[in-house]
Amino acid sequence: MIATAHLDKLNISELLTELAKMFDGRIAFSTSLSWEDQVITHHIFSQNLPIRVFTLDTGRMFPETYSVLNSTRERYKKEIEVYFPQTTSVQDLVTKKGASSFYESLDNRKECCFIRKVEPLNRALDGVDCWITGIRAEHSDNRKELSIVEFDEQRQIQKVNPLANWSLDDVKEEIKKHTIPYNILHDRGFVSIGCQPCTRAIKEGDDFRAGRWWWEESNKKECGLHS
Ligand code: ADX
Ligand code: SF4
Repeated sequence: MIATAHLDKLNISELLTELAKMFDGRIAFSTSLSWEDQVITHHIFSQNLPIRVFTLDTGRMFPETYSVLNSTRERYKKEIEVYFPQTTSVQDLVTKKGASSFYESLDNRKECCFIRKVEPLNRALDGVDCWITGIRAEHSDNRKELSIVEFDEQRQIQKVNPLANWSLDDVKEEIKKHTIPYNILHDRGFVSIGCQPCTRAIKEGDDFRAGRWWWEESNKKECGLHS
């Protein structure tokens, strides 16, 4: 078992530096290119840390999200690895159920999320012992007990959420302070951004994740990346 108690006390840049040392060559950060993730990307790239940065391109992203991918590459002159779903799985899904099966049932939605996100994530994490994510406790009821350092029982790897205790204002301030590129949809009421057909803007006072899979009733909506 690796000692991790000291990690909670470090600031984001110290934390990422320490993790890169502890998990040399076996560490990766998954970015959805959200404003949270852009803060983490900034600290990894600007410090030249040996941490792989990858994104899962579901094939259903917003054009604005691709713009952030491009502006981030340009700003830091670094590569973000892009993982696509398995071609045959998507072909079969869309051939059998059409292009919008996720609106029809929870099972269909989870099937699409599995094919387009979870399976590619598992591939991206192959050989990784430490997975960094941008989740925050404030995101939802489901995430409110979140710690900075966790163990992903399902994948049997260390999971580190450097922004677990950050508020949205903390994130925005960090973006401003370092002029970090971010998704312009965030300025248009989209706080939590996933795939285009499954994300919409929210109104002031709505839950942070109210715009994700809005047609589903549960307030514990997840796609399976984070169980
Ligand atoms: S989701 O499970 O509902 O889709 P959310 O959008 O809140 O996740 O993002 C939480 C974290 O999951 C991100 O900070 C990122 O680490 C990871 N993540 C979500 N979507 C992607 C994606 N498309 N590519 C890579 N990482 C992702
Ligand atoms: Fe499919 Fe929607 Fe899940 Fe994206 S968020 S993988 S489009 S169900």
